[in-house]
Amino acid sequence: MQVDLLAGTGHRAPVLPQRRPVLLLFDSGLGGLTVLSEVARACPDADMVYVADDAAFPYGRLSETALVARVLAVMERLVARYHPDLVVIACNTASTLVLPALRARFPIPFVGTVPAIKPAAERTRSGLVSVLATPGTVARDYTRGLIESYASGCAVTLVGSTLLAGLAEAALKGESVPDEAIEAEIAPCFVSRDGRRTDVVTLACTHYPLLLARLRRLAPWPVEWIDPAAAVARRVTQLLGPARKHPDAGAAVAVFTAGARLSGPARIALAGFGLAQVEIEPMPLKV
Ligand code: DGL
Repeated sequence: MQVDLLAGTGHRAPVLPQRRPVLLLFDSGLGGLTVLSEVARACPDADMVYVADDAAFPYGRLSETALVARVLAVMERLVARYHPDLVVIACNTASTLVLPALRARFPIPFVGTVPAIKPAAERTRSGLVSVLATPGTVARDYTRGLIESYASGCAVTLVGSTLLAGLAEAALKGESVPDEAIEAEIAPCFVSRDGRRTDVVTLACTHYPLLLARLRRLAPWPVEWIDPAAAVARRVTQLLGPARKHPDAGAAVAVFTAGARLSGPARIALAGFGLAQVEIEPMPLKV
């Protein structure tokens, strides 16, 4: 099932564009930047459009019906405007729900980002694995299906954090985020049972790797933190084929659906990810 979401695009033989490919990476906010870094490294010949649907952030609080409708509506506008050759949904909360509807609606390949439960089950020695995600991802049938298919031999603790994505955004924008706030969000991931302890935590929200150095430092004991971004980038290169030589590097633009919280430090952080050009495409969330 996991393989299907990452791989299944309905496009067995993608037609490679002669021009530079346009890749659109989509998240509710800045978390997808952790995926953008890996994809940009793997596809240096591509033009990148990074979209933060910040008008609807955080996705973790939206109902499933509202989230499907929102992502389809925003994608309609983005596809018409940027004509991407491939879209990466750099968001677990959306990928675990909306990919089938996106693939049914648009005739382009979609690559998802889903909880890395299979790798976690393969790597654990203690058999105690935790999945740190948004409340939306934790509640998905899709996530439970992954656990049944790939981790039935493990004790999997699902931890739905309401605050960590926002804390990651704040930290990226240079705001002060106290250690205690992060500690409180990750504490339920650390389980001791019958002399065994959690040894793998899968980061099932693309925002969380933004905090990786602090997660390592604040963990009550060392664990392996799994970030699926490199696997997502590998899937993108499989679909696009080898990078072609172009005389200059690919262009990159960041698009925000609100842009209200685009402070100076946020723009500096975006520039650090190669996104010096920022556009606002206003799409207020109707609730
Ligand atoms: N970055 C998103 C994810 O991977 C979620 C953050 C949010 O709640 O919007 O799940």
